[in-house]
Amino acid sequence: MRKLIVANYKMNGDEKFYSLVTKKLNKLALKDARFVLCPPFVYLSKFKKHIKSGELGIQNISAFDFGAHTGEISHQMLKEFGVRYVIIGHSEVRSSGETDELIAKKVKIACGHDMIPIICVGEDKNSGLELIKSQVEKAIQYIDNSSKIIFAYEPIWAIGTKVTPTSEEIKTVVDNIKLTLEKLGFKDVPVLYGGSVNKDTYKHCLNSGCDGLLVGGASLNLDEFIEILKGVDNYE
Ligand code: PGA
Repeated sequence: MRKLIVANYKMNGDEKFYSLVTKKLNKLALKDARFVLCPPFVYLSKFKKHIKSGELGIQNISAFDFGAHTGEISHQMLKEFGVRYVIIGHSEVRSSGETDELIAKKVKIACGHDMIPIICVGEDKNSGLELIKSQVEKAIQYIDNSSKIIFAYEPIWAIGTKVTPTSEEIKTVVDNIKLTLEKLGFKDVPVLYGGSVNKDTYKHCLNSGCDGLLVGGASLNLDEFIEILKGVDNYE
């Protein structure tokens, strides 16, 4: 399986930065790795016409088709900009009140409209595999096993902290997520790792056997992000 690298820019960057992102990344020729860029909504137009390499994703989606939902963005609007992937259930969104039920509805709406959800699951220091198992099961409760989905294991304590789990620790959780999915009939679902992935940690994260990486902070440094992309591309 080709490794997938997802850049989650969160609420960062400006017009100048995103012009530079498309300019620099368009020059990149990768043979093995592929990447998805998830900018804030307002910069999607910067990518619509200008992204030649890589694919476009977004950081959230409305669980509704249209209507009186102030501040929300629908699948239809996103697709007009060429968005194919959507991060759902990021811990930063969960922490502001997003429930497993709402996540499941967002996953359903994305899958129902030919978009691929990147579903984030992860534990804090006090919870373990049981919580992750339940997050996985609940997130996919409204879709069938022919749906295209991706999971990302993101331990909350590793996000933005410069602390990563060991390869073995990541492997245990990634294997567990895959096992949970397989038991429910979902086969060959890619599982990424995210949380303090940078130029110094990406290799040991990949050594866990995960299918790719979700990169936050390090995606804001373009040279570092390109170094990671090239490194993953040449990863044996
Ligand atoms: P980080 O963020 O790479 O800055 O830790 C990852 C994420 O939150 O997706």
